[in-house]
Amino acid sequence: MVMGAFSISVALLLLSLLHHVHSEHSYKVGQAVESGCDLYQGNWVFDTSYPLYNASSCTFIEKQFDCQKNGRPDTDYLKYRWQPTGCNLPRFNGGDLLSRLRGKSLMFVGDSLSLNQWQSLTCMLHTAVPTANYTLTRTGAVSTFTFTEYDVKVLFYRNAFLVDITNTSEERVLNLDTIAGAQVWNGIDVTIFNTWHWWTHTGSEQPWDFIQTGGKIYKDMNRLIAFEIALKTWAKSIDYSVDPTKTKVFFQGVSPDHSNGSFWGEPSANQCVGQAQPVLGQNYPGGPEPAELVVEKVLGTISKPVYLLNVTTLSQLRKDGHPSFYGIFGHRFMDCSHWCLAGVPDTWNELLYAALIQN
Ligand SMILES: *[C@@H]1O[C@H](CO)[C@@H](O)[C@H](O)[C@H]1NC(C)=O
Ligand SMILES: *[C@@H]1O[C@H](CO)[C@@H](O)[C@H](O)[C@H]1NC(C)=O
Ligand SMILES: *[C@@H]1O[C@H](CO)[C@@H](O)[C@H](O)[C@H]1NC(C)=O
Ligand SMILES: *[C@@H]1O[C@H](CO)[C@@H](O)[C@H](O)[C@H]1NC(C)=O
Ligand SMILES: *[C@@H]1O[C@H](CO)[C@@H](O)[C@H](O)[C@H]1NC(C)=O
Repeated sequence: MVMGAFSISVALLLLSLLHHVHSEHSYKVGQAVESGCDLYQGNWVFDTSYPLYNASSCTFIEKQFDCQKNGRPDTDYLKYRWQPTGCNLPRFNGGDLLSRLRGKSLMFVGDSLSLNQWQSLTCMLHTAVPTANYTLTRTGAVSTFTFTEYDVKVLFYRNAFLVDITNTSEERVLNLDTIAGAQVWNGIDVTIFNTWHWWTHTGSEQPWDFIQTGGKIYKDMNRLIAFEIALKTWAKSIDYSVDPTKTKVFFQGVSPDHSNGSFWGEPSANQCVGQAQPVLGQNYPGGPEPAELVVEKVLGTISKPVYLLNVTTLSQLRKDGHPSFYGIFGHRFMDCSHWCLAGVPDTWNELLYAALIQN
């Protein structure tokens, strides 16, 4: 059944009235393969057995992420492995993951950081079974990578805000209260959500003219507040629609930028340019990402099980992991937001794998 955005928002409103009891936080983070071990507390170690793949053997990796092909001269950034303090991450086993997912679908939903992680996972899996047939198709905002012999679909649904952005009478309205995209992801076996980066855009990069919420229209709004209202809409839709016996829900924590060296004690740095080593140790001098704190707050209100891939701190340490000049537009454009592949999103997928095999 296809519901209009309006009826979804009414349903969500009713549901938010009915489901007002959230006695305990049901989202999980850092659950361990060995109990008591926090997978997200640790540091980066140089490991010559990395990277997990060579991007040139995955012809489907977009040019913007293949930093080696784009001429990045250094290679140390390829060789860092995330080492939790109290245990080891399970070694990624792509054949095992494909067997576990047989007959199922796994979907990344979000902006180009989700694209980054989706591309990483498809290459990690393809590298595990290089002779297995696959197909890659795109329909509208949904890209589908199918491992045909395994009957496994790994999808990417580009949806930068999760909530709706619509045109009404020549104006673009970001509606914080409606979430028609849920029709696309409902029923998918494993979903991994992400949104944040587009909430910060202003001027000509801002894709809306007005923000709508609570029956009111705003010319602008504090972006963290707008983000929180939208995440609550998403959280209600998860509580409304997810059957935890059939589907698993993940949230990819906020992926950090490295546009200002002051945050890692190098104020004279030109964004991430020339960074060839991570921040060593466990702590990022710049402190937490404000948007990540909003994510954690909203996840704490969900009653269905949601697992936070707590990638923010470990990725903050990777000031060396971005394309800088070796991204999509070569030397005319600097990218300190996305990540080179192979690279940091491979670790996000190792953590996703660890979470999927633990139960
Ligand atoms: C995420 O991991 C970092 C680093 O270990 C930790 O400081 C932070 O508290 C974690 N967040 C949550 C919600 O557990
Ligand atoms: C990846 O493969 C290409 C083509 O075979 C090769 O030129 C390149 O050196 C390899 N990169 C790494 C980091 O091993
Ligand atoms: C892969 O596809 C080709 C062409 O469709 C087919 O001949 C081959 O048997 C397939 N491989 C496997 C392992 O199924
Ligand atoms: C949305 O509005 C913009 C102008 O504000 C227009 O360029 C665009 O084509 C519209 N998109 C749709 C899907 O109507
Ligand atoms: C970088 O951050 C510092 C500390 O917040 C701030 O003073 C400075 O203006 C920022 N630099 C740029 C280029 O944004």
